[in-house]
Amino acid sequence: MFGKLGGTWRNRGNMMSTATMRIGTSNPFAGLEEVVRENVPLAPKTWYKIGGPAKWFVQPRNPEELAEAAQRCAENEIPIFVLGLGANLLVSDAGVNGAVFKLDHEHWRRVKFEGEKLEAGAGVDLQKLILRTVRQGLAGIESLAGIPGTMGGGIRMNCGGKFGDIGSRVTRVQVMDSGGTQFERTKDDLVFDYRTTNIAAPFILSATLELEEEDPERIMKRTKEIWMFKRNSQPLNTKNAGCIFKNPRGLSAGALIDQAGLKGMKVGGAEVSEKHANFIVAHPGCKADDVLKLVKIIREKVYEKNEIHLESEVKIWA
Ligand code: EPU
Repeated sequence: MFGKLGGTWRNRGNMMSTATMRIGTSNPFAGLEEVVRENVPLAPKTWYKIGGPAKWFVQPRNPEELAEAAQRCAENEIPIFVLGLGANLLVSDAGVNGAVFKLDHEHWRRVKFEGEKLEAGAGVDLQKLILRTVRQGLAGIESLAGIPGTMGGGIRMNCGGKFGDIGSRVTRVQVMDSGGTQFERTKDDLVFDYRTTNIAAPFILSATLELEEEDPERIMKRTKEIWMFKRNSQPLNTKNAGCIFKNPRGLSAGALIDQAGLKGMKVGGAEVSEKHANFIVAHPGCKADDVLKLVKIIREKVYEKNEIHLESEVKIWA
Protein backbone atom coordinates (compact mmCIF):
# COMPACT_ATOMS: atom_id res chain seq x y z
CA MET A 1 0.00 0.00 0.00
CA PHE A 2 2.74 2.46 0.80
CA GLY A 3 6.49 2.46 0.78
CA LYS A 4 9.33 4.36 2.27
CA LEU A 5 11.36 6.33 -0.24
CA GLY A 6 14.26 8.55 0.63
CA GLY A 7 13.18 8.88 4.24
CA THR A 8 9.63 10.06 3.47
CA TRP A 9 6.51 7.91 3.25
CA ARG A 10 4.74 7.86 -0.13
CA ASN A 11 1.15 6.80 -0.45
CA ARG A 12 0.69 4.42 -3.38
CA GLY A 13 -3.02 3.68 -3.07
CA ASN A 14 -6.28 5.59 -3.13
CA MET A 15 -8.13 3.52 -0.55
CA MET A 16 -7.65 4.64 3.05
CA SER A 17 -5.37 7.37 1.83
CA THR A 18 -6.03 9.52 4.88
CA ALA A 19 -5.21 6.66 7.21
CA THR A 20 -2.08 5.66 5.36
CA MET A 21 -0.98 9.26 5.14
CA ARG A 22 -1.45 9.58 8.88
CA ILE A 23 0.52 6.41 9.53
CA GLY A 24 3.03 7.45 6.89
CA THR A 25 3.79 10.81 8.43
CA SER A 26 3.70 9.53 11.97
CA ASN A 27 7.19 8.04 12.05
CA PRO A 28 8.13 9.45 15.45
CA PHE A 29 11.80 9.62 14.47
CA ALA A 30 11.43 11.16 10.99
CA GLY A 31 14.64 12.94 10.09
CA LEU A 32 16.68 10.78 12.50
CA GLU A 33 16.83 7.72 10.23
CA GLU A 34 20.63 7.66 10.32
CA VAL A 35 20.61 6.89 14.02
CA VAL A 36 17.25 5.16 14.60
CA ARG A 37 16.34 1.68 13.35
CA GLU A 38 13.09 -0.22 13.76
CA ASN A 39 12.61 -3.79 15.05
CA VAL A 40 16.20 -4.49 15.98
CA PRO A 41 16.99 -7.86 17.66
CA LEU A 42 18.34 -7.30 21.15
CA ALA A 43 19.49 -10.85 21.92
CA PRO A 44 22.93 -10.44 20.27
CA LYS A 45 23.43 -7.28 22.31
CA THR A 46 22.99 -9.01 25.67
CA TRP A 47 25.15 -11.49 27.55
CA TYR A 48 22.24 -13.89 27.82
CA LYS A 49 21.80 -13.87 24.01
CA ILE A 50 18.07 -14.34 24.44
CA GLY A 51 14.95 -12.17 24.18
CA GLY A 52 13.07 -10.29 21.46
CA PRO A 53 13.63 -7.12 19.46
CA ALA A 54 13.48 -3.41 20.27
CA LYS A 55 10.67 -1.56 18.52
CA TRP A 56 13.15 1.31 18.06
CA PHE A 57 16.93 1.20 18.46
CA VAL A 58 18.63 4.57 18.81
CA GLN A 59 22.39 5.20 18.52
CA PRO A 60 22.88 8.96 18.79
CA ARG A 61 26.29 10.25 17.72
CA ASN A 62 26.29 13.31 19.96
CA PRO A 63 24.26 15.04 22.69
CA GLU A 64 22.20 16.99 20.13
CA GLU A 65 20.94 13.81 18.45
CA LEU A 66 20.32 12.25 21.84
CA ALA A 67 18.28 15.29 22.95
CA GLU A 68 16.27 15.27 19.72
CA ALA A 69 15.49 11.54 19.96
CA ALA A 70 14.59 11.89 23.65
CA GLN A 71 12.17 14.71 22.87
CA ARG A 72 10.52 12.62 20.15
CA CYS A 73 10.02 9.87 22.71
CA ALA A 74 8.42 12.33 25.12
CA GLU A 75 6.12 13.79 22.43
CA ASN A 76 5.02 10.34 21.27
CA GLU A 77 4.88 8.70 24.71
CA ILE A 78 7.50 6.13 23.76
CA PRO A 79 9.13 4.52 26.80
CA ILE A 80 12.89 4.95 27.02
CA PHE A 81 15.37 2.15 27.79
CA VAL A 82 19.13 2.55 27.90
CA LEU A 83 21.40 -0.36 27.00
CA GLY A 84 24.98 -0.66 28.19
CA LEU A 85 26.82 -3.92 27.54
CA GLY A 86 23.66 -5.90 28.25
CA ALA A 87 25.47 -7.85 30.96
CA ASN A 88 22.93 -7.40 33.71
CA LEU A 89 19.84 -7.65 31.59
CA LEU A 90 17.07 -10.04 30.65
CA VAL A 91 14.96 -9.02 27.64
CA SER A 92 11.58 -10.75 27.45
CA ASP A 93 10.82 -12.97 24.47
CA ALA A 94 8.31 -10.40 23.19
CA GLY A 95 11.01 -7.73 23.20
CA VAL A 96 10.70 -4.09 24.12
CA ASN A 97 7.87 -1.87 22.92
CA GLY A 98 9.84 1.33 23.25
CA ALA A 99 13.06 3.04 22.25
CA VAL A 100 16.30 1.38 23.31
CA PHE A 101 19.17 3.85 23.36
CA LYS A 102 22.78 2.74 23.07
CA LEU A 103 25.52 5.29 23.60
CA ASP A 104 28.31 3.47 21.81
CA HIS A 105 29.43 6.02 19.24
CA GLU A 106 32.99 7.31 19.58
CA HIS A 107 31.70 10.50 21.25
CA TRP A 108 30.48 8.48 24.25
CA ARG A 109 33.70 6.49 24.59
CA ARG A 110 36.08 9.35 25.34
CA VAL A 111 38.39 9.19 28.35
CA LYS A 112 40.34 12.13 29.76
CA PHE A 113 42.96 11.76 32.50
CA GLU A 114 43.93 14.77 34.59
CA GLY A 115 46.20 14.00 37.55
CA GLU A 116 44.30 11.61 39.81
CA LYS A 117 40.99 12.39 38.12
CA LEU A 118 39.49 10.81 35.08
CA GLU A 119 36.43 11.67 33.06
CA ALA A 120 34.86 8.91 30.99
CA GLY A 121 31.91 8.84 28.63
CA ALA A 122 28.88 6.66 29.29
CA GLY A 123 29.89 4.16 26.61
CA VAL A 124 33.35 3.43 28.00
CA ASP A 125 33.93 -0.27 28.70
CA LEU A 126 34.76 -0.56 32.41
CA GLN A 127 37.11 -3.52 32.09
CA LYS A 128 39.21 -1.73 29.47
CA LEU A 129 39.20 1.37 31.64
CA ILE A 130 40.47 -0.60 34.65
CA LEU A 131 43.44 -1.83 32.62
CA ARG A 132 44.26 1.74 31.57
CA THR A 133 44.09 3.03 35.15
CA VAL A 134 46.25 0.18 36.42
CA ARG A 135 48.90 0.89 33.77
CA GLN A 136 48.86 4.56 34.71
CA GLY A 137 49.33 3.72 38.38
CA LEU A 138 45.88 4.94 39.42
CA ALA A 139 44.09 2.85 42.02
CA GLY A 140 40.41 2.82 42.92
CA ILE A 141 38.42 0.96 40.31
CA GLU A 142 40.38 -2.31 40.22
CA SER A 143 37.79 -3.47 42.77
CA LEU A 144 35.43 -3.75 39.76
CA ALA A 145 37.66 -6.27 37.97
CA GLY A 146 35.57 -8.86 36.19
CA ILE A 147 32.31 -6.88 36.40
CA PRO A 148 31.23 -6.36 32.81
CA GLY A 149 29.58 -3.09 31.90
CA THR A 150 29.88 0.45 30.63
CA MET A 151 30.50 3.56 32.65
CA GLY A 152 26.84 4.60 32.22
CA GLY A 153 25.47 1.21 33.25
CA GLY A 154 27.98 0.90 36.08
CA ILE A 155 26.97 4.25 37.58
CA ARG A 156 23.25 3.57 37.15
CA MET A 157 23.55 0.28 39.05
CA ASN A 158 26.37 1.40 41.33
CA CYS A 159 28.10 -1.75 40.18
CA GLY A 160 30.46 -3.50 42.51
CA GLY A 161 30.87 -6.44 44.80
CA LYS A 162 32.59 -7.36 48.02
CA PHE A 163 35.76 -5.46 47.01
CA GLY A 164 34.08 -2.10 46.49
CA ASP A 165 31.69 -0.23 44.24
CA ILE A 166 32.00 2.48 41.63
CA GLY A 167 29.99 5.07 43.57
CA SER A 168 32.74 5.53 46.15
CA ARG A 169 34.94 7.03 43.41
CA VAL A 170 32.43 9.25 41.61
CA THR A 171 32.65 13.01 42.03
CA ARG A 172 30.48 14.25 39.14
CA VAL A 173 27.97 12.82 36.71
CA GLN A 174 26.71 14.55 33.57
CA VAL A 175 23.12 13.59 32.81
CA MET A 176 20.31 14.44 30.42
CA ASP A 177 16.64 14.47 31.30
CA SER A 178 13.85 13.20 29.06
CA GLY A 179 13.29 16.74 27.72
CA GLY A 180 16.85 16.79 26.37
CA THR A 181 18.28 19.17 28.99
CA GLN A 182 21.81 18.45 30.21
CA PHE A 183 22.89 19.05 33.76
CA GLU A 184 25.45 17.94 36.30
CA ARG A 185 25.10 16.03 39.55
CA THR A 186 27.94 16.44 42.00
CA LYS A 187 29.23 14.39 44.90
CA ASP A 188 27.39 16.44 47.55
CA ASP A 189 23.96 15.52 46.17
CA LEU A 190 24.69 12.05 44.80
CA VAL A 191 23.73 9.00 46.82
CA PHE A 192 25.17 5.60 45.91
CA ASP A 193 23.62 2.68 47.70
CA TYR A 194 23.74 -1.10 47.24
CA ARG A 195 23.23 -1.50 43.44
CA THR A 196 21.37 1.81 43.14
CA THR A 197 21.78 5.59 42.94
CA ASN A 198 19.51 8.62 43.31
CA ILE A 199 20.05 9.66 39.67
CA ALA A 200 16.57 9.99 38.18
CA ALA A 201 17.49 11.38 34.73
CA PRO A 202 17.20 8.65 32.08
CA PHE A 203 20.56 9.36 30.43
CA ILE A 204 23.98 9.29 32.06
CA LEU A 205 26.38 11.00 29.65
CA SER A 206 29.72 10.86 31.45
CA ALA A 207 31.26 10.69 34.90
CA THR A 208 34.32 11.95 36.73
CA LEU A 209 36.11 9.59 39.09
CA GLU A 210 38.70 10.44 41.72
CA LEU A 211 41.49 7.84 41.92
CA GLU A 212 44.75 7.54 43.88
CA GLU A 213 48.32 7.15 42.69
CA GLU A 214 49.86 3.82 43.56
CA ASP A 215 52.52 1.45 42.25
CA PRO A 216 51.04 -0.21 39.11
CA GLU A 217 52.40 -3.63 40.11
CA ARG A 218 50.59 -3.54 43.44
CA ILE A 219 47.32 -2.52 41.78
CA MET A 220 47.74 -5.25 39.17
CA LYS A 221 48.31 -7.85 41.90
CA ARG A 222 45.04 -6.85 43.58
CA THR A 223 43.23 -6.84 40.24
CA LYS A 224 44.40 -10.40 39.55
CA GLU A 225 43.34 -11.58 43.01
CA ILE A 226 39.84 -10.17 42.50
CA TRP A 227 39.67 -11.85 39.10
CA MET A 228 40.76 -15.18 40.59
CA PHE A 229 38.07 -14.92 43.24
CA LYS A 230 35.42 -14.48 40.57
CA ARG A 231 36.84 -17.23 38.38
CA ASN A 232 36.84 -19.69 41.25
CA SER A 233 33.37 -18.89 42.57
CA GLN A 234 31.27 -17.92 39.53
CA PRO A 235 30.29 -19.68 36.28
CA LEU A 236 32.16 -17.21 34.08
CA ASN A 237 32.31 -19.30 30.91
CA THR A 238 28.54 -19.65 30.60
CA LYS A 239 25.72 -17.44 29.30
CA ASN A 240 24.44 -15.60 32.35
CA ALA A 241 23.59 -12.11 33.57
CA GLY A 242 25.63 -12.10 36.77
CA CYS A 243 23.85 -12.38 40.08
CA ILE A 244 20.12 -12.65 39.53
CA PHE A 245 19.04 -11.41 42.98
CA LYS A 246 20.32 -8.72 45.30
CA ASN A 247 21.71 -9.93 48.59
CA PRO A 248 19.12 -9.35 51.32
CA ARG A 249 20.60 -7.14 54.06
CA GLY A 250 23.31 -9.08 55.89
CA LEU A 251 22.63 -12.29 53.96
CA SER A 252 23.73 -13.95 50.75
CA ALA A 253 21.13 -14.71 48.08
CA GLY A 254 23.46 -17.40 46.67
CA ALA A 255 23.72 -19.16 50.03
CA LEU A 256 19.92 -18.98 50.57
CA ILE A 257 19.19 -20.50 47.14
CA ASP A 258 21.87 -23.13 47.70
CA GLN A 259 20.43 -24.06 51.14
CA ALA A 260 16.98 -24.38 49.55
CA GLY A 261 18.49 -27.19 47.46
CA LEU A 262 17.95 -25.44 44.14
CA LYS A 263 21.37 -25.80 42.52
CA GLY A 264 20.97 -27.60 39.20
CA MET A 265 17.22 -26.97 39.01
CA LYS A 266 16.10 -26.52 35.38
CA VAL A 267 13.21 -24.97 33.51
CA GLY A 268 13.58 -25.47 29.76
CA GLY A 269 17.06 -24.23 28.89
CA ALA A 270 17.54 -22.27 32.12
CA GLU A 271 19.46 -23.79 35.04
CA VAL A 272 20.47 -22.66 38.52
CA SER A 273 24.27 -22.77 38.36
CA GLU A 274 25.99 -25.59 40.24
CA LYS A 275 28.93 -23.28 40.84
CA HIS A 276 27.08 -20.27 42.32
CA ALA A 277 23.38 -20.54 43.08
CA ASN A 278 22.68 -16.85 42.44
CA PHE A 279 23.44 -17.34 38.75
CA ILE A 280 20.94 -18.67 36.22
CA VAL A 281 22.74 -20.12 33.22
CA ALA A 282 21.09 -20.11 29.78
CA HIS A 283 21.78 -23.26 27.76
CA PRO A 284 21.28 -23.45 23.97
CA GLY A 285 17.60 -23.00 23.09
CA CYS A 286 16.84 -21.22 26.35
CA LYS A 287 13.97 -18.71 26.24
CA ALA A 288 13.68 -15.60 28.37
CA ASP A 289 10.47 -17.14 29.66
CA ASP A 290 12.42 -20.16 31.01
CA VAL A 291 14.60 -17.80 33.04
CA LEU A 292 11.56 -15.87 34.30
CA LYS A 293 9.81 -19.10 35.37
CA LEU A 294 12.94 -20.23 37.21
CA VAL A 295 13.23 -16.83 38.91
CA LYS A 296 9.64 -17.23 40.15
CA ILE A 297 10.26 -20.75 41.48
CA ILE A 298 13.44 -19.65 43.29
CA ARG A 299 11.57 -16.76 44.92
CA GLU A 300 8.75 -19.05 46.06
CA LYS A 301 11.06 -21.74 47.45
CA VAL A 302 13.31 -19.30 49.31
CA TYR A 303 10.24 -17.58 50.75
CA GLU A 304 8.75 -20.93 51.83
CA LYS A 305 11.96 -21.86 53.65
CA ASN A 306 13.14 -18.54 55.07
CA GLU A 307 10.28 -16.03 54.69
CA ILE A 308 12.68 -13.80 52.77
CA HIS A 309 11.65 -11.99 49.57
CA LEU A 310 14.47 -12.01 47.03
CA GLU A 311 14.64 -8.86 44.96
CA SER A 312 15.83 -9.03 41.37
CA GLU A 313 19.24 -7.51 40.65
CA VAL A 314 19.07 -8.20 36.94
CA LYS A 315 17.06 -5.65 34.97
CA ILE A 316 14.08 -7.25 33.26
CA TRP A 317 12.76 -5.52 30.13
CA ALA A 318 9.30 -6.66 29.16
N1 EPU B 1 27.44 -19.18 48.70
C1 EPU B 1 26.92 -20.43 48.87
N2 EPU B 1 26.42 -21.08 47.79
C2 EPU B 1 26.43 -20.54 46.55
C3 EPU B 1 26.95 -19.24 46.39
C4 EPU B 1 27.47 -18.56 47.47
O1 EPU B 1 26.89 -20.96 49.97
O2 EPU B 1 25.96 -21.19 45.61
C5 EPU B 1 28.00 -18.47 49.86
C6 EPU B 1 29.51 -18.25 49.72
O3 EPU B 1 30.23 -19.35 50.14
C7 EPU B 1 29.74 -17.03 50.57
C8 EPU B 1 28.42 -16.26 50.44
O4 EPU B 1 27.44 -17.18 49.95
O5 EPU B 1 29.88 -17.40 51.90
C9 EPU B 1 28.54 -15.08 49.49
O6 EPU B 1 28.88 -15.54 48.19
P1 EPU B 1 30.00 -14.82 47.33
O7 EPU B 1 31.23 -14.66 48.17
O8 EPU B 1 30.14 -15.53 46.05
O9 EPU B 1 29.45 -13.36 47.08
P2 EPU B 1 28.01 -12.88 46.66
O10 EPU B 1 27.49 -12.03 47.75
O11 EPU B 1 27.16 -13.99 46.18
C10 EPU B 1 28.70 -10.60 45.56
C11 EPU B 1 28.04 -9.89 44.40
C12 EPU B 1 28.68 -10.34 43.11
C13 EPU B 1 30.18 -10.10 43.14
C14 EPU B 1 30.77 -10.85 44.34
C15 EPU B 1 32.26 -10.60 44.48
C16 EPU B 1 25.66 -9.49 44.85
C17 EPU B 1 24.28 -10.00 44.67
N3 EPU B 1 26.62 -10.26 44.35
O12 EPU B 1 28.38 -11.98 45.39
O13 EPU B 1 28.13 -9.56 42.08
O14 EPU B 1 30.79 -10.54 41.94
O15 EPU B 1 30.11 -10.38 45.54
O16 EPU B 1 32.54 -9.26 44.60
O17 EPU B 1 25.84 -8.41 45.41
C18 EPU B 1 26.63 -9.26 40.29
O18 EPU B 1 26.41 -8.16 40.79
O19 EPU B 1 26.10 -9.64 39.23
C19 EPU B 1 27.55 -10.14 40.98
C20 EPU B 1 27.79 -11.36 40.56
